Amino acid sequence: MTVFLNGKFLPESQAHVSVLDRGFIFGDGIYEVIPVYGGKLFRFTEHLSRLQNSLDAIRITNPLSSAEWEKMLTELIHLNNDGDQSLYLQITRGSAKRDHAIPENPTPTVFAMCNELKPLAAEIISEGVAAITIDDIRWSRCHIKATSLLPNILLRQEALDQGAAEAILIRDGQATEGAASNLFAVIDGIITTPPKGPMLLPGITRDLVLELAKNNGLSCQEKTISLAELQQADEIWLTSSTKEILSVTQLDGQPIKNGKPGPLYQRLLTLYQDYKQTLRNQPQKQP
Ligand SMILES: Cc1ncc(COP(=O)(O)O)c(C=O)c1O
Repeated sequence: MTVFLNGKFLPESQAHVSVLDRGFIFGDGIYEVIPVYGGKLFRFTEHLSRLQNSLDAIRITNPLSSAEWEKMLTELIHLNNDGDQSLYLQITRGSAKRDHAIPENPTPTVFAMCNELKPLAAEIISEGVAAITIDDIRWSRCHIKATSLLPNILLRQEALDQGAAEAILIRDGQATEGAASNLFAVIDGIITTPPKGPMLLPGITRDLVLELAKNNGLSCQEKTISLAELQQADEIWLTSSTKEILSVTQLDGQPIKNGKPGPLYQRLLTLYQDYKQTLRNQPQKQP
């Protein structure tokens, strides 16, 4: 696998960062995950804009222009054989003597790699997944896509330990999002998702699902979802760049309605696949 590190394309085995890198020492950095379909970056403008917001929030100057990001990432995808991939990129504050205070004029570390992007298994589409609800133990800046993910790791593992695929996080009685996904519920026939704010990540897939729903005349709303509403919902979905849209058919061991993915899920998944296909059919940009 070829990766990108600080201006160079290298075999992964030859890419090294300093032990003093603040990403390693403090988790002082931010990241993005961008799906790639047919060698083409999915919702690139939206991902780049969220990247900029994360950088601004932690006071790192963007080391590359939009054109430079696009050129570098397109080349990296190409060096890894195009096709469908999941692109991971990370910017840390760089290397400095260990001190909480932000160093003056640090040089950020820029890293990017491609990972396999597997299509969803047929059984997951036809049967859905199980989820648990659990107290949100994270901080109050969840809109920043920070690399420091220890709470998310522990929450996701708690779900896995209970035989579920995802943990749905509850804060002050409201369901915010999953450990690594955004949350939707169909309530009284309306596709509902919590409004953006500091308690959840502004998911790119979330926005696309809302856009597809609105463009196809389906009613949707951005409104808080209480735990009780979630338990009574007609359908529950989780969205993320790598898992697209998952239907939650069991919550805390109880079936959601008849325990099968609902009709609106199937509709949105089809719209989502069609949208991906239009990207695949576009001409390839040259790196
Ligand atoms: C906490 C959290 N919420 C939501 C999402 C979904 O965001 P996106 O659709 O941009 O992948 C993720 C993605 O990993 C996440 O980690």
